[in-house]
Amino acid sequence: MIQLAAFYALFAVLAWFISFLISKRRHLMLAKHFHGPPALPLLGNALQFARISHNELIATVSELEKKYNSPCRFWLGTHLVIGVADADSMEAVLRSSENMDKSQHHTFFSDFIGGVFLAEGERWKRLRKMVMSPMFQASSMEGHVQIFNEQSRLMCQLLLKYKIGKGSFDIRPLMSSCVLDIICQTAMGTPMGVQLRDDVSYPKDISEIAEITMERSSKVWLHPNIVFNNTLLGNRKNELAASILNFVKSVIKTRRDIKTNEKQGISEAEVKSPYKKFVRPYLDSMLDYAEEEKLTEDRLALEVNDLMVAGSDTSAVASSHALVMLGMDEELQERVYAELREIFGDSDRPATLEDLAMMTQLEMVVKETVRITCPPHMARTVERDIILPGKEGAKERIIPTGATVYMLLYNLHRNPKYWSHPHEFHPDHFLPEYEATRPKFSYLPFSYGLRICPGYKYGVYSIKTVLSTVLRKFKVKSNLDKNNLNFRLSIMLELADGYPVTLEPRVPSE
Ligand code: HEM
Repeated sequence: MIQLAAFYALFAVLAWFISFLISKRRHLMLAKHFHGPPALPLLGNALQFARISHNELIATVSELEKKYNSPCRFWLGTHLVIGVADADSMEAVLRSSENMDKSQHHTFFSDFIGGVFLAEGERWKRLRKMVMSPMFQASSMEGHVQIFNEQSRLMCQLLLKYKIGKGSFDIRPLMSSCVLDIICQTAMGTPMGVQLRDDVSYPKDISEIAEITMERSSKVWLHPNIVFNNTLLGNRKNELAASILNFVKSVIKTRRDIKTNEKQGISEAEVKSPYKKFVRPYLDSMLDYAEEEKLTEDRLALEVNDLMVAGSDTSAVASSHALVMLGMDEELQERVYAELREIFGDSDRPATLEDLAMMTQLEMVVKETVRITCPPHMARTVERDIILPGKEGAKERIIPTGATVYMLLYNLHRNPKYWSHPHEFHPDHFLPEYEATRPKFSYLPFSYGLRICPGYKYGVYSIKTVLSTVLRKFKVKSNLDKNNLNFRLSIMLELADGYPVTLEPRVPSE
């Protein structure tokens, strides 16, 4: 009897394996054209990733890519993943208009975001249109810059009041509040006054939930909801998601109140409109959309949150990182400051769009900052074969439909072929003469193609406004060691030891 059961079990495994081989035959054939680590039957390379924390993920994949050279292949169980980290392959992947859908792993983010970032097909097209217009139209930037200035100047006042003479402190929480106020006012049309409150945990919650989500992605056994939701990590994720969405709902409610006041004849200006030059907030388009689609309040909060997360966490990390790097390099900071003095002289006036365009030294600092800190990887499900160009007479290679393409921006941005100082903070990488020699697809902090970051100009302008406002007022120092920086993986690459700075007013009386 036992023998018969064993025979049936063996037969079932064999039958499954044969059907798997048939369905995966093409992947197996095409994968042979890529180098990659030895893979176990059925498990592939999964064990290699199962044992590591999410923070070790980038280092592990990065080492594998260096060993096997981009493009290379991994098997996650029976699923084929092609890793790319060279400019030519990146170009082939990102220029293709069919391969836009996010990989399966992105679904783990759907507990706290649910709009344009994860959307696919027609729904993505519609949401993307709503994000782009009027929020990211060139004509809206002037209005946004007014808000960038107001909030940056408020942050400086708070720094003067609470942080001067108190030694070293972590600038990230203040920076996060400042950029959250910026996104709430510009995109949501809602002045939330986060900088003046101490009851908003949204930025910290986002960092923590992003890390939990990455940890889950890298542990196959945490993938099923039924398992994950019964772990401590799963419980914590639920608490954080609830807190995040509560904040988003409070933003939505505030906007609704403002609109009700408007209808009652109280003008936008009277309800403390953030805008001197009014730009229709993105949230207003989302409110119309929610009505049309009959979205629940929870669903609307999820959809709106994409832009709040993408617009606040990224800029807060980049601005904090740039300040710390300038705080460790006095000569560089003085170069940036000299340029700001040239533009503004002794004047304390807010920066205009024209001023921001003239800040070329600061622009190089910002570009270098995002080279290091941008999201270190992106992944897509391949919907139609991607043909990779053959190198040095080699045959073209194909990433087949159904596989995942994993773009390792981390290695792309540290490849010594493209970067003279790959592991240092070296803004001269962006001197025009060096920029001209690099292939276009060697630098992709904002991605490329149809799913390119819609907020990249807005992001760069807001970061430049915040940094120039701080640097005009304060000399920044940081006691971190630039040769020994540790990173942790969140949405961006963050400094594991925080962002400690000391500030000295440029005008001693302040
Ligand atoms: C330093 C600043 C920023 C960096 C490095 C950055 C980087 C990126 C990258 C790499 C992607 C593509 C991700 C992927 O395809 O998996 C992306 C998408 C996105 N970003 Fe940014 N971003 C920044 C700032 C912003 C800002 C300020 C906003 C909004 C105000 C924003 C909104 C978005 C949105 C909505 C998407 C999803 C677009 C889509 O899927 O169609 N980002 N960003």
